[in-house]
Amino acid sequence: MDSPETIYKTDALIAADIDAYLETHQHKTMLRFITCGSVDDGKSTLIGRLLYDSKMIFEDQLASLEADSKKVGTQGQEIDFALLVDGLAAEREQGITIDVAYRFFATEKRKFIVADTPGHEQYTRNMITGASTADLAIILIDARQGILTQTRRHSYLAHLIGIKHLVVAVNKMDLIDYDEKVYNQIVTDYAAFAKEVGIEAFTPVPISGLAGDNITSSSGNTPWYKGPNLVEHLENVEVMNTSNQADPLRMTVQWVNRPNLDFRGFSGQISSGTIKPGDEVRVLPSGKTSTIKRIVTMDGDLDKAVAGQSVTLTLADEIDCSRGNVIAAADAPPQVADQFESTIVWMDEEELLPGRSYWMKIGAQFVNATVHPPKYQINVNNLEHLAAKTLHLNNIGVAEITTDRPIIFEPYTDNHDLGGFILIDKMSNATVAAGMLHFSLRRSQNVHWQNIDIDRVAHAEQKHQEPRVVWFTGLSGSGKSTIANMVEKRLHALGKHSFLLDGDNVRHGLNKDLGFTDTDRVENIRRIGEVAKLMADAGLIVLTAFISPFRAERQLVRSMLPEGEFIEIFIDTPLAVAEERDVKGLYKKARAGELKNFTGIDSDYEVPENAELRIDTTKMKPEEAAELIVDKIVGSWTYTI
Ligand code: ADX
Repeated sequence: MDSPETIYKTDALIAADIDAYLETHQHKTMLRFITCGSVDDGKSTLIGRLLYDSKMIFEDQLASLEADSKKVGTQGQEIDFALLVDGLAAEREQGITIDVAYRFFATEKRKFIVADTPGHEQYTRNMITGASTADLAIILIDARQGILTQTRRHSYLAHLIGIKHLVVAVNKMDLIDYDEKVYNQIVTDYAAFAKEVGIEAFTPVPISGLAGDNITSSSGNTPWYKGPNLVEHLENVEVMNTSNQADPLRMTVQWVNRPNLDFRGFSGQISSGTIKPGDEVRVLPSGKTSTIKRIVTMDGDLDKAVAGQSVTLTLADEIDCSRGNVIAAADAPPQVADQFESTIVWMDEEELLPGRSYWMKIGAQFVNATVHPPKYQINVNNLEHLAAKTLHLNNIGVAEITTDRPIIFEPYTDNHDLGGFILIDKMSNATVAAGMLHFSLRRSQNVHWQNIDIDRVAHAEQKHQEPRVVWFTGLSGSGKSTIANMVEKRLHALGKHSFLLDGDNVRHGLNKDLGFTDTDRVENIRRIGEVAKLMADAGLIVLTAFISPFRAERQLVRSMLPEGEFIEIFIDTPLAVAEERDVKGLYKKARAGELKNFTGIDSDYEVPENAELRIDTTKMKPEEAAELIVDKIVGSWTYTI
């Protein structure tokens, strides 16, 4: 750590020769780390201490802190330590909902970026964001409190995410009179927990962020402690991960460079292995092979590149290779599959809806994915497996996941780039989960799509019609079934082949195991979507009459069918009108509290935003509506037979 003398010299160096100063920094290695623990374990104080002692606060941070110190009326150039800590805490609290605060500091030996994440449980997502790029995690423990749930949760997550180095900083030693016994007990307790989780090693340090013990120098207050001080450890821990250079080559193509017809380069970061011109590679998912021609970088061509480097590769042959593809060692390619077992950390206020289609981003690959009901949820306190139907905010569970097309993957423990993923809600665009793939399910490797000679076109042509899925949606009692029934009668009279799937009927058979929770409604519509698709493949005009209250599932069915084949019809009857009619007497029951989760009362209905037709039943009779819909169906055929 910088002594006052070296700081003086450094200042002089900056003044004399800024280039020389930057040069000395450029060649230092960088350690990214995260601090985590419970709310009052002293994160702000520790980070403040690290920044304060290193005097390497980023200029803009300094400026804003100085401005703050003026606000509270402090004079002078020197920033007060306590004020610095308050400033950092305030800054972080303000930014709490958006992201993690990244702080920068440096010592003579190394540069550091620390992700400062809030400790409250609801901010697990921030911790994950910070941890995803970290080499090391400092788990702070208040010496007076010992190990708390958050200590366990954060340690577990840090381990799941694959952070290699864990420091257990037993903080506030000054408040327990630097008691060796208390410290040893905490370390013993932590070791027992670590063993259960599978954490192989950790480095314990007794510190006081406030008093500065064992932060930048060995403290006289803990003569019994013989290990390194915190900064010394941070300076010396190994960051270059060379272990995966021996693994087979993997590089996900981030983008394709084609400045002219003579050059086609594939850019990305090598996530494992080494590569040389002349090496044989396989491009996935196509499986085509070629050899490496050149390894191009900003500083010229390379003879060799290793894991961690960002490069542009050119290949000897013109084979298909696009963004999201993986260039791999020809003789040891990664697997391709579409069903997996995974660990999922749920990070959204809205719970996981098994069966719902989410966007899944895995490396540069982007697919649709559905999560099955969890096998179990993990209690982070004792690692017990709990039964679970879904995952709520901050829950960690193990569940199977299915993607809509095969993806290139590796188990997360082998390769973070090809095994780590996030799930994104299609409507809100929020990142709702982070996850890690364990392995592919054997059934996905063995179930292959069967090509059938009599295809959907042949089926439809024989019936002299084009298949359609006419999807009625609206509140209970809005008139969906009545209108759909009239539409079908007209189609029948016109000699068309149709089939009507109706909510109440399907719920007596195929879906009799489902109720009306959000999860069950998602599954109800998913199954009906699949059935409707099969019927459309058989060449039929399928009419469906289900409340189908959620946009996401209606969108899912739309996306399963060829463009133009899905016709969404919103039967728009205001709640008051449907309730007034109350054909089945269900609204009355729901209002009386005898029927739970009733759509429009205590369960949501999401109004369609892009329906092909909206029928306002307060202005249009069912007969008129039916005529309009039949026109829409038959009129949208690209050919008339
Ligand atoms: S959906 O929401 O999953 O699409 P679906 O259309 O299959 O619902 O079933 C709706 C029908 O079930 C309603 O028309 C009504 O007769 C009946 N029903 C029974 N309980 C409920 C409820 N809690 N909410 C809505 N409909 C219900």
